[in-house]
Amino acid sequence: MKIKNICCIGAGYVGGPTMTVIAKQCPNIKVTVVDINQDRIDAWNDNNLDNLPVFEPGLADIVKETRGKNLFFSTEVDTAIDEAELIFISVNTPTKTYGKGKGMAADLKFIELCARQIARVSKQDKIVVEKSTLPVRTASAIKSILDNTGNGVQFQILSNPEFLAEGTAVNDLLNPDRVLIGGDNSSEEGIVAIQSLVDVYANWVPADRILTTNVWSSELSKLTANAFLAQRVSSINAMSELCEKTGADVNEVSKAIGMDSRIGSKFLKASVGFGGSCFQKDILNLVYIAKSYGLNEVADYWEQVILINEHQKNRFSDKIVSTLYNTVSGKKITFLGWAFKKDTNDTRESAAIKVADNLLNEQANVVVYDPKVHLERVYSDLDYLKTRSVEENRELLSVESDPYRACEGTHAIAILTEWDEFKEYSWQKIYDSMNKPAFIFDGRGILDKNSLEEIGFTYYKIGLGK
Ligand code: NAD
Ligand code: UDX
Repeated sequence: MKIKNICCIGAGYVGGPTMTVIAKQCPNIKVTVVDINQDRIDAWNDNNLDNLPVFEPGLADIVKETRGKNLFFSTEVDTAIDEAELIFISVNTPTKTYGKGKGMAADLKFIELCARQIARVSKQDKIVVEKSTLPVRTASAIKSILDNTGNGVQFQILSNPEFLAEGTAVNDLLNPDRVLIGGDNSSEEGIVAIQSLVDVYANWVPADRILTTNVWSSELSKLTANAFLAQRVSSINAMSELCEKTGADVNEVSKAIGMDSRIGSKFLKASVGFGGSCFQKDILNLVYIAKSYGLNEVADYWEQVILINEHQKNRFSDKIVSTLYNTVSGKKITFLGWAFKKDTNDTRESAAIKVADNLLNEQANVVVYDPKVHLERVYSDLDYLKTRSVEENRELLSVESDPYRACEGTHAIAILTEWDEFKEYSWQKIYDSMNKPAFIFDGRGILDKNSLEEIGFTYYKIGLGK
């Protein structure tokens, strides 16, 4: 089937950038991204491209090029579904916060609502594509809803998980390592549907990078990829603690093992802990699925990846407290960075949130500077934890828009995100304005120990032993 109209339900960190790139690479396809969140759609339509809801290097330029031509953002969900031959579901699938599977399973209520809406609205056959990350076998639930509540039209369900990483989304979408498409390869209609989506990507992705599988392999591959990636970070973070005890340097260890072509050099950067909306959620989901099949050893194995990550965040805040003479009460501590990684304004599950929460429990006065994260976001991240009242969070923590001001009179600086600009600061100027002794806790290992120590700082780098 030749695709002329695509609808994407969900204008978030995945739906927005993914559809923008499809629109750019497929000028003959009309792409409409819909969302129930009016503010988000307004932001995507804002003439001032600085106000787009997602910050990604290179994204604004492509939005400028395609928006209003073959890329549209709208809240008219029914109309967009009706028009499209192919519908991506790209809504959020957070960890359940209630009922059975609370704190572990994926909450599929938004997915189900989409399926019911597609079924209700569709008057012609459609291809429905799971773009959201979903538990293995979700496609059968979507199919059942579509077939049982629809108007007798035919639906084909494909799984097409998204592998983009935030901060590099545009490049990842333009040059993906692979595109994975799972579908019913045992029926003629299924094969046609798979080919239709292959043809969309073939506009810019080389054929040997477009992989087709059965639906279950595709769904499970996404959870597996995230589990493996997160496991590498937890593995190197576990070693970082041992490095600190033994006098080894985790960067040297990473380099040494990464040169082994069987291990590979990527994703071996020790840190204050991984964040982001995907790793924790997807591994918890994997653990839940394994448990639900009675595979307790499999579940325990993957759960350890999360436990090490929690430990890494806690041990970073513990290190700050113990170094500052076992008390941070009333002391100013400056956070450079709040986003979960550089080059994104996303803060979901950022290590900074947990580290701040721990320090606020010790009555520290935390001051945050992040080049892309706004004040309201920082407060809403903290308020969401419900550790203390909204008023107390505002009393204890403040947000500065200038990094030098954020560091004035502070007792310690903690680097929580690896923003490039931090490396360019005048550290002498910062040192001069700080309380002494002046401490730096580098949770990302981005600063140069020797030059900072020459200035007079007491410098701690994650994974660097003495
Ligand atoms: P997001 O929260 O940024 O965006 C989801 C959007 O869906 C929201 O704007 C929400 O309003 C909208 N929505 C929810 N229900 C809706 C409905 N019924 N109708 C219309 N709109 C609706 O989430 P995200 O980060 O874009 O993630 C989406 C999915 O992609 C998740 O399953 C996630 O696991 C997966 N994923 C995310 C990333 C990432 O880097 N963020 C990468 C790969 C995969
Ligand atoms: C991840 C996957 O990489 C991507 O394929 C998937 O589609 C979504 O989830 P994302 O969470 O956006 O992407 O960013 P990623 O680059 O994977 O980083 C996740 C976290 O791990 C960040 O907090 C990052 O700082 C941390 N990390 C990553 C490390 O601490 N060390 C590393 O070596 C790599």
